[in-house]
Amino acid sequence: PAPTPQYRPAYHFAPAAHWMNDPNGMVYLNGTYHLFFQYYPDGMSWGPMHWGHATSRDLLRWQEQPIALYPDKLGYIFSGSAVVDENNTAGFGKNALVAIFTHHDPEEEKKKTGKHETQSLAYSLDEGKTWTKYAGNPVLKNPGIPDFRDPKVSWNAQARKWIMTLATKDRITFYSSPNLKDWTKESEFGEQVGAHGGVWECPDLFPLTLDKKTYWVLLVNLNPGGPNGGSATQYFVGQFDGKTFRPQTNTTKWADYGPDEYAGVTFANTGNRCLFLGWMSNWDYAQQVPTAPWRSAMTLPRELGLRQVGKELYLTSAPVKEVASMVTSSRIRPLTNFNAGKASAAAQPLTDLAVKGEIDLLQQMQTQWRPQSRLQLRARQLQDMTLVLSNAQGEELLIGFDKKANQYFIDRSKAGPSGFSPKFAARHVAPRLSSAPAADLTLFFDAASVELFADGGLTAMTEIFFPSAPFTSLRLRPTPGLTLDSVEYTWLLTPTK
Ligand code: FRU
Repeated sequence: PAPTPQYRPAYHFAPAAHWMNDPNGMVYLNGTYHLFFQYYPDGMSWGPMHWGHATSRDLLRWQEQPIALYPDKLGYIFSGSAVVDENNTAGFGKNALVAIFTHHDPEEEKKKTGKHETQSLAYSLDEGKTWTKYAGNPVLKNPGIPDFRDPKVSWNAQARKWIMTLATKDRITFYSSPNLKDWTKESEFGEQVGAHGGVWECPDLFPLTLDKKTYWVLLVNLNPGGPNGGSATQYFVGQFDGKTFRPQTNTTKWADYGPDEYAGVTFANTGNRCLFLGWMSNWDYAQQVPTAPWRSAMTLPRELGLRQVGKELYLTSAPVKEVASMVTSSRIRPLTNFNAGKASAAAQPLTDLAVKGEIDLLQQMQTQWRPQSRLQLRARQLQDMTLVLSNAQGEELLIGFDKKANQYFIDRSKAGPSGFSPKFAARHVAPRLSSAPAADLTLFFDAASVELFADGGLTAMTEIFFPSAPFTSLRLRPTPGLTLDSVEYTWLLTPTK
């Protein structure tokens, strides 16, 4: 297929060419963020998996590096994590980077023993440049569970051991180890709890603090069975005592309600910052999307927090603060009180303009649409509203809020040709969890993707789209009563590669 530079993101990681899925082994070391990823260097669809590698100093400007891990006689290299072994517990060397990943053996799979997925190690003594597979692989054999994969390992200070969080078909199994090589089963979680529309994959377990109290968050990726179809990331908030995970409630929650965030997990070794990043696609159509010569990008890195709403604790997601480095003040177009059209601190209801129909936001702000940009809306009174991003071909991407349903939505059903997959063209919804009358909405655009963060990140939604010509117009369809304090449109600099 012909190359599609118009769909290529500027500040999201995408490989120069070929197929990518899950982020793997994300770890921070000596000023550099490492992103490894499920990679098939010989094609544009899923195939025998390698770990690709990219590095960044600011989480936004990524440099692709040589492939880190190649398939071997134990199988393909499936998803997993990486740690910095500060105390040399494994004996590979002080501060060795150790990758813990799943070996997936396609020959064993054919025999249907259910034992084709095992956990293995590789280590690097030169900050991820070269890797050595551990001679004693696998370090965790399979008891006969056909889906037995995606180990996420972290040091547990309370247990003074490494804890491995492993996806085991319809539940999570926790293992512990003093040295990353010998693993003991501790407990299982989830057979009776959470969403089970598909297989549990790519888990993560980490602490977060709220009002000086520590909670443990368990992320569980699920495929299919997501809230808008296909693959998605659910999570539980509770306690982990070094052995067992206990959720506070059994409510199913989603780290991102859009169709296009999957396999999201967090970076290791980032101190107090909890940094999350996912694959920006969906198994429902990832292998059909019309990009070339690459397929798939990653989401924006997001800093996670906790917030209480009623009796429930929810995750909040905010784009990392490093995004500020992509903004220049001269490209910010603030707009307050655009109903009255005169300077005033108090926002006016949009009634007059609403009856007249749509508001051309770009014209109001005397600016032009850019494929890399950010739109921020502050509503004093949130009502039904729709943002319409469109092109001369009449294709439209709709983003907005439906008050009666209390839902945010993104509708890409008319945003471009979608013949590549019957599952692509659709309207997707996400619940509004905040009950405050005021709301903030931030949208990050990067060529063929939008990420919505609403209400301080209580609701996140990620969506990809492929218009046949670039969008040029941005209009707002308000309803009476919608009161906006400000609308801000920001050009994001295309990072120099
Ligand atoms: C999730 C997943 C993982 C697996 C990897 C294989 O998208 O299915 O469970 O390790 O992709 O590429």
